[in-house]
Parts: sequence; structure tokens; C-alpha cells
Amino acid sequence: MHDIIRQLAEKRGAAYLGGGQKRIDSQHAKGKLSARERIELLLDNGSFEEWDMFKEHRCTDFGMADQSVPGDGVVIGYGTINGRLMFVFSQDFTVFGGSLSESHAEKICKLMDHAMKVGAPLIGLNDSGGARIQEGVASLGGYADVFQRNVMASGVIPQISLIMGPCAGGAVYSPAMTDFIFMVKDSSYMFVTGPEVVKTVTHEDVTAEELGGAVSHTSKSGVADLAFENDVEALMIMRRFLGFLPANNREKPPRLPAQDPAERLDFSLDTLVPDNPNKPYDIKELILKTVDDGDFFELQPDFAKNIVIGFGRMDGSPVGIVANQPLVMAGCLDIKSSTKAARFVRFCDAFNFPVVTFVDVPGFMPGTAQEYGGIIKHGAKLLYAYAECTVPKITVITRKAYGGAYDVMSSKHLRGDVNFAWPSAEIAVMGPKGAVEIIFREEKGDPAKLAQREAEYKAKFANPFVAGARGFIDDVIMPNETRKRICRSLAMLRDKKLENPWRKHGNIPL
Ligand code: HXC
Repeated sequence: MHDIIRQLAEKRGAAYLGGGQKRIDSQHAKGKLSARERIELLLDNGSFEEWDMFKEHRCTDFGMADQSVPGDGVVIGYGTINGRLMFVFSQDFTVFGGSLSESHAEKICKLMDHAMKVGAPLIGLNDSGGARIQEGVASLGGYADVFQRNVMASGVIPQISLIMGPCAGGAVYSPAMTDFIFMVKDSSYMFVTGPEVVKTVTHEDVTAEELGGAVSHTSKSGVADLAFENDVEALMIMRRFLGFLPANNREKPPRLPAQDPAERLDFSLDTLVPDNPNKPYDIKELILKTVDDGDFFELQPDFAKNIVIGFGRMDGSPVGIVANQPLVMAGCLDIKSSTKAARFVRFCDAFNFPVVTFVDVPGFMPGTAQEYGGIIKHGAKLLYAYAECTVPKITVITRKAYGGAYDVMSSKHLRGDVNFAWPSAEIAVMGPKGAVEIIFREEKGDPAKLAQREAEYKAKFANPFVAGARGFIDDVIMPNETRKRICRSLAMLRDKKLENPWRKHGNIPL
């Protein structure tokens, strides 16, 4: 018995040391924490229950038979964040570079199966050199086993990836299928093929950081949602982020007792929209003044800035917010902004977040770049997402709602539950100038006449009352009462029930 207890202590000691103190020190020297240190920071103190600490690889090739580390390069288990159950795996770069062996994959799969059984979020802390090269196809099989589970868990439990080191080759496709990807600046990168392969194939000179670092993926590709300065900041913000999410798709997002009065008015909003319709303003000011305590968790702030997405709380309950941003490209919808918002709306719908949409959109972005890039298909994603969505939908048109973009942005016609407009709203097929240039083409040579036509068109359509007369707008509200009216609408919609027709799945334009 004593012998077994001694062996247990030894094995635990070996597992805790992972690839050894030297490699842990080198991890620290790179500004990275170890796999276990990361879990400790992420979860509530002392809540972590570890599994499979003694699991080892079964590879005997390339001298691997006598190179084994208990745990095999990934720490898995469950614990709590602010008292709520979470499942976590954390890849240990000190053990064969965190590379994924068959056993390593089995551990992750076991964790995912449990997370699905009990319905709790799965958080992956990725730091891995990819497939365990010594294992070959067994490792590839392991990846595919994880991918399959990612897909089955999609829309059932929230899946979060935090990239804290390398994540390259096919390995990127597991995070890619999770709901959110967060990265750490300067120490993490994701790419399908690394700089050397890029150089050989396309003759481009690019560093790993430029190709797949946190800044590239949060500003250029839109693959990642946020970039953090270091491991500690990333893990602390993850704790806050998870506070918005429900445990699974059968629960509502967790409500917190609200300090901010639901009926609070904000008179500064009455002057937010400038008199000149061509002058921009910052839609984030409206968001911050509307949500509880000005607490808005923005996602993808540096990508497709013409649309703003993120989570906030209204009277204590989490909501998803989507807003056109007039400060960037006049708030036009283009390919990137459509796909950014569409995916977010679908997440909200899958996990029971009401969607609050602020609209100020002059239309879809014109041009060959957009058309050749497939704006028809990509714009349709946002339309599809809003139309398919069955959660409560509240829409506030602050200024422009023109053309197809009016329809797309959670309009009444796409089952918007409550659609408000500010007095400054202009709801029409297009802007007055463009409209008269088409209808009164023959008067083009007479600028004075055209200006008069424009003024007439403006007087007729550049207001919320035409849409109001048809019931497309439920009420015209003063900007100062936006929060109050949204909170009341959300309370009214709390028990909303709406189901789409049975089908295997729809065919969203991909
Ligand atoms: C086994 C690996 C490994 C791997 C790293 N190591 N990657 N062992 N399989 N994939 C080991 C190294 O041998 C080394 O061992 C230790 O981890 C640390 O690696 P270093 O190279 O010293 O670290 P660093 O300089 O920081 O470079 C990290 C790295 C590099 C950029 C990740 O190690 C690297 O390029 N690794 C290979 C990446 C790769 O090609 N993976 C396969 C991709 S294909 P010692 O004992 O010296 O500490 C793939 C397919 C997935 O992943 C398909 C899914 C469908």
C-alpha cells in the first residue's frame, strides 16, 4: 500500500512537471504561463478537478517507447468560474510541444463528451505544435475525432478557444468550429500553412506574427474575436466573458441583479444624431448609454468596424447587440460586416440571447470588389440569420434605413418583435438624392428643379411616419427613452415562443 502511495506521489509529481522545469522556464521566458498555471487563473480558486493525469501515449516508433510523460501534453478537467460549471482542456507545450497524439486527442474527446452530457461550456486553451509527428495518421484520426465533436456540440454548448501559443495546419480547424476565438498578442499564431511553405509556394516573405498573429486575425481575417496583451489579461477577461453565456442551449443566459434602473432616461441621446444627415456619429455612444452600467463586451472591434457586435445586459439579462456604425463607411453593409454580424446573430439565436439591433444604414456597399467578392451571397447570410432567428428581436432605427439593408436589419418583415424609430429616422428605398436622379432623370439638366424634387422626396420619405402608417414601425420614440422602451419590450417578450418548421437543416448561403 505504502508503495502504491509513493508511486502515486511520484506520478503526480512527474505529471505536474510536464516536460520538466527547464521547459517550464523557457515557457515563462517567452512570457507564457504553463498549462496548469493557466487553468488555475481561469477557474475559481481550488475548484479544478483533473482527469487522466496518468494517461500516456502508446507510440513505440522513433524511440518514443521510453519517452513518456504522464498526462501526454494536455491537462483536462472541470471546475467553476464564479460558481458556474466549466470544462477545460489546456495543452502543455512543455510535453512534445503540446503536440496532439492519439491519447492526447482521447482526453479532449472524453472531456467534450462529458461537457455535452451535462450541458456546460467547453473552454480550450490551445498551445500546440500540431499533430504528434511520431504518431502519423493516429494523430490525424485524433484530430478528426475532436472536429466531429466540435460540430456535434455546436449550438448545444458554448465552445470557446483561447489560442495561447502555436496552432497550425489542420489543427486550426478545431478552434475554427468553436463559437469564439481569442488570441494572445506576440505569443500565439494560427495559420493553415506556415511562413516557410508560404515562401515556397507564393514567394511571399512573411513572419509568423504577420501571417497568423493575434493582430492579423482580429483586424485582417476576422478569424479571431479579440486580441489580449498577455496570458493573465486573456484569462481574466475570459472569466468576465463567460459570465454572459448560458451553460447550454436549453438555458437562458444568466441574469444578474441589476443596479441600473430599467426606466433610466438619457437626455444626451436627444442630440446624438447630427442635423446634417451626412455627418457621422458614434453608435457606440448609444450602446454604452443604453446597456446596464455602460458595460458592453464588444467582439471583433477591429474587424469590419462598420458594424458593431457584442454582449451587454438590459435590466440584468444578457442581450446580443448589433449596430451599424455611421463612423465607418457611413455604416454601409459589405461582405465582412454581413458575415461578422450574421454569425453573431446565429450564436445569439442558438443560445437564447435576445437581439437588440440599432440601425443607421445607407445600404449595401457598391462596387466591383464587393460584387466579385460575392456580396449577394454574403449579404444574404445576414438576412438569413435574422429571418431564421426565433429569439426576441428589438430594432431601433436611429437614422437611415435604406433599401435592402432596411429589410435585412431585423425589420418587422423578418419577424422583428418590436420595431422602434427615432424621429430622425429616414426609411426609404434609397437616399433622396439618388432617388430623384432616377425618377426625374429627364430633369437632370436643371439643378434647381432637381433640388426642389429632392426636397419634396425628403419631406415625403425622410421620416419614420410612412413606415409607421403601415405598422412596420410600432412606435416613434424619443432617443432619451430608448433604454426604457427596450427594457419594457424585453420584459414583455421574456416568454416568447416561436418555432421554425421542422427540417433537417436550412441551407444558409455559405
Ligand atoms: C512532436 C513536437 C512537435 C510535433 C514540436 N515538438 N512540435 N513533437 N510533434 N508536432 C517538440 C519539439 O521537438 C521540441 O522538443 C519541443 O516540442 C518544442 O519545440 P521547439 O521547436 O523547440 O519550439 P519552438 O522553437 O517554440 O517552435 C515551436 C514550433 C515548432 C513552431 C511549433 O516546434 C514546429 O514547427 N513544430 C512542428 C510543427 C508541425 O509541423 N506540426 C505538424 C503540423 S501538421 P524538445 O524535446 O526539443 O523540447 C498538423 C496536421 C494536423 O498538425 C491535421 C489535422 C487534420
